[in-house]
Order: sequence, then C-alpha cells, then structure tokens
Amino acid sequence: MTFVPSAADVAAYLDQHMGREPGTKIQYGHPSPRFWQVREAPLNELLAPLDPHKPLNLYLHIPFCPPTDPEACGFCLFAREDYQSYQAVDAYVTDLLVELGHVAARVGRRTLRTLYFGGGTPNLLNEASIRQIFARLHQLFDIPPGCETTLEGTPGLFTPGRLEALHEVGVNRISIGAQVLKAHLLKYSGRTQRNEHIVRTVDFCKARGIHCSVDLITGWFEQTPDDVVDDVRLLHGWGVDGIVNHPLTLGGDSEFARNKHRLPPIEVSRDAFLAGRATLLELGYRADSYTDYCRADLRPVQFLEMYRDALHNDRLGVGYGANSLFAGTVDRPGHTYKNVVGRDPYHGRLSAGRSAVESVFDFNRVDLQLIYVLKGLEGSPWLDATAYAQEFGSSLADDFAPFWQVLTERGWLTWNDGHPQLQGDGIFYTSEVQRCLSEPRNAGLRGAARRREPGSLSLGAAAALDA
Ligand SMILES: C[S@@+](CC[C@H](N)C(=O)[O-])C[C@H]1O[C@@H](n2cnc3c(N)ncnc32)[C@H](O)[C@@H]1O
Ligand code: SF4
Repeated sequence: MTFVPSAADVAAYLDQHMGREPGTKIQYGHPSPRFWQVREAPLNELLAPLDPHKPLNLYLHIPFCPPTDPEACGFCLFAREDYQSYQAVDAYVTDLLVELGHVAARVGRRTLRTLYFGGGTPNLLNEASIRQIFARLHQLFDIPPGCETTLEGTPGLFTPGRLEALHEVGVNRISIGAQVLKAHLLKYSGRTQRNEHIVRTVDFCKARGIHCSVDLITGWFEQTPDDVVDDVRLLHGWGVDGIVNHPLTLGGDSEFARNKHRLPPIEVSRDAFLAGRATLLELGYRADSYTDYCRADLRPVQFLEMYRDALHNDRLGVGYGANSLFAGTVDRPGHTYKNVVGRDPYHGRLSAGRSAVESVFDFNRVDLQLIYVLKGLEGSPWLDATAYAQEFGSSLADDFAPFWQVLTERGWLTWNDGHPQLQGDGIFYTSEVQRCLSEPRNAGLRGAARRREPGSLSLGAAAALDA
C-alpha cells in the first residue's frame, strides 16, 4: 500500500519527534486541516452523505471564556474569545439558532444519539439562554429521554442556579475543566477557580444522578509525577465518575508555547502522564481511551464512542469553528468540514443566508482506512483485525506491516489475539504514532498542493490521485 511508510521511515520519524511534547487527540484530525479545501460549500451538498441509518451526534460550540492573564489560560488552542458582554453572547446564540434551523431544515427531524455543548466555556450561558437553546433543539430534533447530553465548563461557573437549569433541561453529563488542582501550578494559567467549586459541582451531580467528569493536564510548568497522582487521588476522593488525563499540547503563539523551554523535560511529562494512568487503573477506573478514564461500573461515555467509531456515526457541528464529519461509506466516502472562526464572519454569513462553512475535505477510501486505524490506536476497544477485514476487504497485519514491526521492536505495541494495542511508553506517544502513520498521506497532499495550478482549489481531487 502506497500510504504506509517504510520501516526505516517509521523509525526515523519517531526518533525525530519523540523529544517533543506529543500533544493529544484534541488537536488531532486526519488529514491535517492544513490540507482542507477552502470553499464555502452549499449545505445541500455538504449534508448529502448524512446517512439516516447512522446515529446522529450534535455538537454546539459556545466560544466565550472568562478573560485570563495570560490570555486563553496560557495554553488553549480552541476557537474561543474573551467574554466582554452578555449582549455579544445573546447575539451569538441568535446566530447559532439560525444555523441550527438551516441544517435541521435539510436533515429533517432526526433522533439524536448524543448532544454536546463544547467551547470555549458553555457554562457561561445564563439560564435564559440555556432554556432558549433547548426549546429550539426540541422543536428541531427528537431528543429521546436519557439522550447523553454533555455540557463542559470551568469550575467557578457551575453555580447552583445554573446547575439546576441544566438539570431541568436534560443535561445529564457535566465535564469540568480543572487542569491542575494545586494553586502554585494553577497560577500559570491565570484561572481563578477554587477546588471548592469542583467539590460543589461533583456533589450536585451525585445528588441528581448526573455523570461528572473532570479534565486534567499533564506536562505543566513545575509539575511532578507526584502532583498528577495527588490530583487524581483527590478527585477520586471527591467521587467523580470520570477523569481525563490530557498531555499538554503546545501550539501557536500561546504563553506556554513561548515559554516551552521552562516546561519540565519530556521524560518528566511522560512519567507524570503514566503515573496518572497507573493511579487511575489502580483506583479501579477503566481506560476508555489513552486519555479518558471512567468508573468501571459505568458504561463508556457515548460521546467518546462516537468519536472513536467515526465511520459509523455522523457528527454535525454548529457554531463558529465547529467541525462536522460524515464519513459516508468505503465505496462512497464522505467528507469533513469546518465553520468560519470569529463572531463577525459567522454572523456575516448567517445574516446573508449563506452557509457558515469555510473549509472542506473530501475523503477517499485511504482516508477512511487511516481514520479507522488512527482512532483504533487510542485505546479500548482496540483495533480489531476481523472487523478491519470486513470493513476494507484486506489484512490489518499486512496493510500496515512496517508500522507494526517498528512499534513492536520498541516495545510500544503488542498484538493481542488480533488486536494491535499500544503499551508502555507507546501510550504516552499515541498522537505521535498517529501523526507518523498519517504523514505519508499528508505528504501526498502537500505535493498535490504544490503541483496544483495557481488559483485552482481542487485539493481534494489532487489528493485522490495521490493516494
Ligand atoms: C474547551 S476546553 C474546556 C472547558 C472549559 N473552558 C475549561 O477550560 O474549563 C476542553 C478541555 O481541553 C483541554 N485542553 C485545552 N487546551 C489544551 C492543551 N493545549 N493541551 C492539553 N489539553 C488542553 C483541557 O483539559 C480542557 O478542559
Ligand atoms: S481552557 Fe477553557 S476557559 Fe481556558 S481558554 Fe480554553 S476554552 Fe477557555
């Protein structure tokens, strides 16, 4: 297969990249958004691969965040902006509901499998906005009782009144961004949360039967493996249902990226990440991916399953910067696309009755194979050779043979009864391993971009020739 690197290339790539902060899946997509075609595609065309037989998952993006010094908590790479006035939030919610109306008019009144409010900081919405959004959602979609409905946010904004409103409208999963629990580490982000805010939110969730998960970041300034272990134990003691252990992703012009020479050495970050993992497993959590852990007596989070099984789930994102992905089928691959970023461009598009879409990538069969394998490397349920053969009509062992060989030689991978699984340090380097695997395809897309005629935007078509 032309998209698989040689064993020498795999080894060279990993040697070259292992010294860097590896980053996490949160910034990871295939192919890299750098190769998506910039075009404002009409919604009718974009929504065509949506399959009425596949579960539909809806994501709503709320970009506003409490301002911090340093900006954007010092590390954040999401599409977000500082909160300035509630008027701006109100105007944005109006636009969001307009976009929602446009897509719903085309997809019909579908039943949702999951609903997710991400950001930014969705718990900055006031009770009136929360009720307004849910009233419209119920007009446009069938949201069955118990539909997994997640809202994420910062600890301080999960106030009792807001939590009551969220519970009343059916939010049954809360994701709290804590990042670190010790004040001397938290200060680097400029965030003003206190641990009492987390305890109060967890207690509320427990009393109402709401699933409650907390995000941590490892690889932070001054942070030691013991700090991560302490945070995990503290959260466990408070009774959380899930913990997410993100390796720090550096990028762009963030304060953390500018000062990366002051971050702990990569070996310390790796040990901190793996110490956090070992503690979580020891405390009885189940690893549902290399970053996501859940109490073993609870079923895996459906939102996570949806991301992992991208070929068999449709994901519709609304709001500025939101992503959608409709994989289509192996014989008729679909596409992924992203909305414009920024309140003004987003409003401009919607007020003119235009689509909010800014860039699109049309998959080919190879992309679907890669997405399937890349997501399957993130953890349980692991890749499955039998399912791969059924899906693509070829052998998982043979199609990626040089790749398995090098990872096995490093002690990063083991084949367990037809399931290739990352292990040991390989788990920490998951996203680097993923990048390594998708690099030849990205290189093909880079070549296609260089070769294409000036003025032509047909990157998707050139990419198909390359594969
Ligand atoms: C949209 S954000 C968070 C929600 C909320 N605004 C907050 O900060 O509490 C989702 C999660 O992504 C993670 N995250 C954001 N930027 C990251 C980065 N650069 N590296 C690692 N994790 C990051 C954080 O753990 C964060 O809680
Ligand atoms: S981490 Fe959360 S609060 Fe901080 S900038 Fe990112 S989205 Fe906003």
